Amino acid sequence: MAFELAAADSSELPAFTAGSHIDLYLPGGMTRQYSLRNDPIERHRYCIGVLREAAGRGGSAYMHDRLKVGVTLETSQPRNAFELEEQAPFSVLLAGGIGITPILSMAHRLSALGRDFAFHYCARGMSRMAFRDEMLASAFTGKVHFHLDDGPAEQKLDLPALLSRRRPGAHLYACGPAGFLDAVIAAASNAWPPEAVHREYFANAGRILASKDRSFLVTLSSDGRSFEVAPGRSIVDVLGENGVEIQVSCEQGICGTCVTRVISGVPDHRDLVLTDKQHADRMTPCCSRALTDELVLDL
Ligand code: FES
Repeated sequence: MAFELAAADSSELPAFTAGSHIDLYLPGGMTRQYSLRNDPIERHRYCIGVLREAAGRGGSAYMHDRLKVGVTLETSQPRNAFELEEQAPFSVLLAGGIGITPILSMAHRLSALGRDFAFHYCARGMSRMAFRDEMLASAFTGKVHFHLDDGPAEQKLDLPALLSRRRPGAHLYACGPAGFLDAVIAAASNAWPPEAVHREYFANAGRILASKDRSFLVTLSSDGRSFEVAPGRSIVDVLGENGVEIQVSCEQGICGTCVTRVISGVPDHRDLVLTDKQHADRMTPCCSRALTDELVLDL
């Protein structure tokens, strides 16, 4: 379902960049992240798309079944953990399923900038393809290729063929289910350097805190206090109990809200938002743990 959010007093909304998301604060204390899919030039609305998740935690069911036109909802400011390299001479945009939303915003932006790009949108079937009419009516319709899992073989996306070469300076963006993103990353691994591959997951199945995890100490660099993080607990939980609040949103390593600098120790990174380079000195304490007995954090 598509939703359009506007300020209650019709004022301009805070600006956003392509690839941004907002947190929506829903009744019952639910916070959900949704990517903005419209052209960042628009300041009068935030457009989001919400897929009904049959096995979801209630956010999408609320949005589909109970949210009515005219209801007031609170949102966060837009944040971007999936930024577009606007100067790149060529971009490849890949969307799987509802992963179309941030990619669509990127297509609007690249089109407005007059940049060259190719846009591939994969879905299980025609009924699962969102915003197709909008894409067909857009200024970039000639750059869009649709691929259906249940369609003829010749229209299916051949990722290894598409990503076996990279035009000089090109960047690649992908958003979709984990299996789709894993396939994109594998297909791009030979020809594309990591810094040119950008991806956004919308769930992190690997972040589950397992009881076989071991305890470690987390130390605050500001005052030297240390706390033990036992198996099954997160750094954010333990610090929160001790009066050290870290802002969180997704709590599963996909949004980047909680990113904290690591002074010493080796994190056991379980996020899907930071790059390998960023992992050198940063971590997501909402879900990541430690490989060493102690982590000293810049807190
Ligand atoms: S709260 Fe989203 S990455 Fe930690």
